[in-house]
Amino acid sequence: MIKHLLSIDQLSPSQIELVLHTADSFREVGTRTIKKVPTLRGRTVCNLFFEPSTRTRISFELAAKRLSADVINFTGDARSSLSKGESFKDTAQTLQAMGVDAIVVRHSSAGAPLRLSRWVEASVINAGDGAHEHPTQALLDILTIRNKLNRIDGLTVGLVGDIAHSRVARSNIHALTTLGAKVIVCGPTTLVPSDVARLGVEVADRLDDVLPRCDVLNLLRVQFERQRSGLFPSIREYRLLFGVDGDRMKKAKPNVLLLAPGPINRGVEVTPEVADGPNSAILDQVTNGLAVRMAVLSELSKAA
Ligand code: NCD
Repeated sequence: MIKHLLSIDQLSPSQIELVLHTADSFREVGTRTIKKVPTLRGRTVCNLFFEPSTRTRISFELAAKRLSADVINFTGDARSSLSKGESFKDTAQTLQAMGVDAIVVRHSSAGAPLRLSRWVEASVINAGDGAHEHPTQALLDILTIRNKLNRIDGLTVGLVGDIAHSRVARSNIHALTTLGAKVIVCGPTTLVPSDVARLGVEVADRLDDVLPRCDVLNLLRVQFERQRSGLFPSIREYRLLFGVDGDRMKKAKPNVLLLAPGPINRGVEVTPEVADGPNSAILDQVTNGLAVRMAVLSELSKAA
């Protein structure tokens, strides 16, 4: 297995399969009374989060704890020496000097995990870098689709919304096309990169036209925090054209699987009736995310 997980395109189809298979076996651990296995006993995992996160941060922490690792949580806030001007590199080398075995990093700059992997001996796992990649999100999305629909190959998956600023979109495109799915990206033209078709996807600007063809819809949040001004019309217009509500769902296949990486903006990309409705697998994604992160931590530790 590889030592670092920086992007999805590092993984061959058989390595993706290995992670999914391992994750399936770790899901069972979450159903036990004592939810712990000794896989990483004596190892230390550091979560280094420079950006807000609920699901990803907590599930990496819980994943490491369920594998019996020692866990350090570091946020680059006022309590750390980053506030005294310490650099990212010095922070990384400080962690290395304490002998951490794996560093899970989220950063607003694309490429930060790659740089980190060159400074430390530890395994580095990308938990989201700018608008670049979010590999464990793609793996958990794929696990959720496969568990619900029994396959990936031959499915049509719609990625809807702010494609340009979404690291989830980029990682999903790589993972889904590698495993044989057809991907349609659909969003406001200002939020869809003009050359995205080069990644092997179909591009659509009208959700209503492509909705009837999709087996899976992955609703991406509009990433206001990464946008220059003027790219986004108005929330009302977005909701009208790309928001998924009960009426729009009538145009989709009756058993369409609905995913969202979270956090969701209820009433913008999806209404509560749909987000909490029978087609939604949003909370299954959270459960699978924990299992996928256990699998990634455990598989990478074999290479370290
Ligand atoms: C995503 C992220 O941070 O890239 N969230 C997540 O990890 N579950 C998507 C988002 O913030 O919209």
